[in-house]
Amino acid sequence: MQIAMVQDKFVPVEQLDAAYFDRGLYFGDGVYEVIRSYNGRIFALDEHIERFAHSLAAIEIIGVDVKEIRRRVQKAFDKAGIANAKIYFHVTRGCGPRNHSWDNSLKPNFFLIISELEDASELKTKGVAVSVYPDMRWKRCDIKSLNLLPNVLAHQDASKKGCFEAILVNDAGFITEGSSSAFFQIFGRALHTTPLSNNILPSVTRKFVLKAALNARLELVEKSITPNQAQTADELFLAVTTKDIIPVIKFDSRTVSGGKPGKYTKQLIEEFRLFTA
Ligand code: PDD
Repeated sequence: MQIAMVQDKFVPVEQLDAAYFDRGLYFGDGVYEVIRSYNGRIFALDEHIERFAHSLAAIEIIGVDVKEIRRRVQKAFDKAGIANAKIYFHVTRGCGPRNHSWDNSLKPNFFLIISELEDASELKTKGVAVSVYPDMRWKRCDIKSLNLLPNVLAHQDASKKGCFEAILVNDAGFITEGSSSAFFQIFGRALHTTPLSNNILPSVTRKFVLKAALNARLELVEKSITPNQAQTADELFLAVTTKDIIPVIKFDSRTVSGGKPGKYTKQLIEEFRLFTA
């Protein structure tokens, strides 16, 4: 016998929406992607699908055809008719009784939502403030998992401080990445960022930023730095699918880059734009 309650009402268990039994809800047991389009064309779809396949495999969700996921994304995007769209989708392991271990007969659930992207041009011209927060995440941050509580808490802390993003700092005192973005520092003509490992998400935007940096003839340095070092950078910026490159003009209350977007950051924004045309 089982009884269920939703808010203050008893609901017969057999009448409960299946979504209440989704392991994504109980355990964050699923993986997701965020993709965008520029002027009616999806950007870097192959890279996102490849990362999604990696995430699925890493948490042992089997039997999902990523080619079919790709088709669904394209079909939904075509139907939405939104030129600058944000495409979110996830796959959870499926619905079932709340047991920590799972049964491979579970049927994975797919969900997708497409919305209009907010215009990021003002953020790009003015720049944003960031604050630091401890990186409390697990040891597989390379997986784009639905478990985002540490990221959510970090981002909320930044919002409370009037900041746009939280920069995560690990136990050893080094910056890993933003709570939902990659983070870059420029010293002279050298572009620094955290090396890829299990400690950060392999950001798709990061990959294109590194390409843009080569085109801009910047030197690449994949090395972690501390918040104190970041404060002395000539320029700082964030990179994320939904906004590509966002200049940072304040780091933990200290003005950086003279309080305005730096010249190489602006150059990278222009180089990046060429990939999206
Ligand atoms: N976040 N690092 C983290 C922890 C992220 O969550 C994200 C993206 C990035 C940037 O990755 P990409 O360039 O592939 O978007 C880096 C998405 C957008 C989100 O969770 O909404």
